[in-house]
Amino acid sequence: MGIGLDFGPQAKELLSQGVERPAVAVILGSGLGEFASQLTISGRVAADKIDGYPRSTVSGHAGALYFGRISAAPRISPPLVIFQGRVHYYESGDISTAVAPIRLAYALGVRSVLITNAAGGIDQSFQPGNLMLIDDVLTLNPASGPAPTTDSTEIPRRAFDAELQTILVDSAHETKVPMRRGIYAWVHGPSYETAAEIRMLRAIGASAVGMSTVPEIVEANRLGLRVAGVSLISNMGTGISDTKLTHDEVTATAREASHRFTALLRHALLRFPQ
Ligand code: HPA
Repeated sequence: MGIGLDFGPQAKELLSQGVERPAVAVILGSGLGEFASQLTISGRVAADKIDGYPRSTVSGHAGALYFGRISAAPRISPPLVIFQGRVHYYESGDISTAVAPIRLAYALGVRSVLITNAAGGIDQSFQPGNLMLIDDVLTLNPASGPAPTTDSTEIPRRAFDAELQTILVDSAHETKVPMRRGIYAWVHGPSYETAAEIRMLRAIGASAVGMSTVPEIVEANRLGLRVAGVSLISNMGTGISDTKLTHDEVTATAREASHRFTALLRHALLRFPQ
């Protein structure tokens, strides 16, 4: 069975269960799932309880949605929905699964989306554990699947919202969490790149590489949502460092860096538009 284009009925059902209608969605990347504990929770829903919603098969991607707000008196964040665990395009080969969180967020009434991921560093000045504001994206697999919808075949020229980016940059300064900026390249996965592929990605301008995020950005832009993205550099790309690259390294580094990530996101979300 395909994944729904329209999550209107599911959104209605979730809202009828008493959760607050969210204004902002946060999608958590590999190993970053703990951020959900920052919320004062008004509801938690297991992803497999949502009709037609895809299930992740990747470890570290437990699927659940959390509703609530972050508060730090006198500030309170807009109402949030946090997606813990995403389903990658490579898991199903169907782009609709990769964009399901965005479609559900849209149906719930969300207007801004903060997308996070774990990514491999390509910029040689990066180190594992660095955070990177995504300034732009590029993709090498435009022909590896259908577009999210027939009227959406291009990545918009301006993928990211300037005001949300400014909030993140200011938050990085104010929390003293170093944040780099760069270009995120999307690859299909699930295998990591070869050293030659990492050299190719560097030659075409990528600062970091990962297997998610770009379909979500395309879909969010198509739906008129405001978007910002932050990568956690969980490892260096193959051939850049001597460490053997494994999924365990990715999630372990993400966990180790999660206090910086949490400090930055908390601060920023308290300042996101209501
Ligand atoms: N390559 C692709 N995807 C990734 C990586 C990587 O090195 N690290 C985390 N996600």
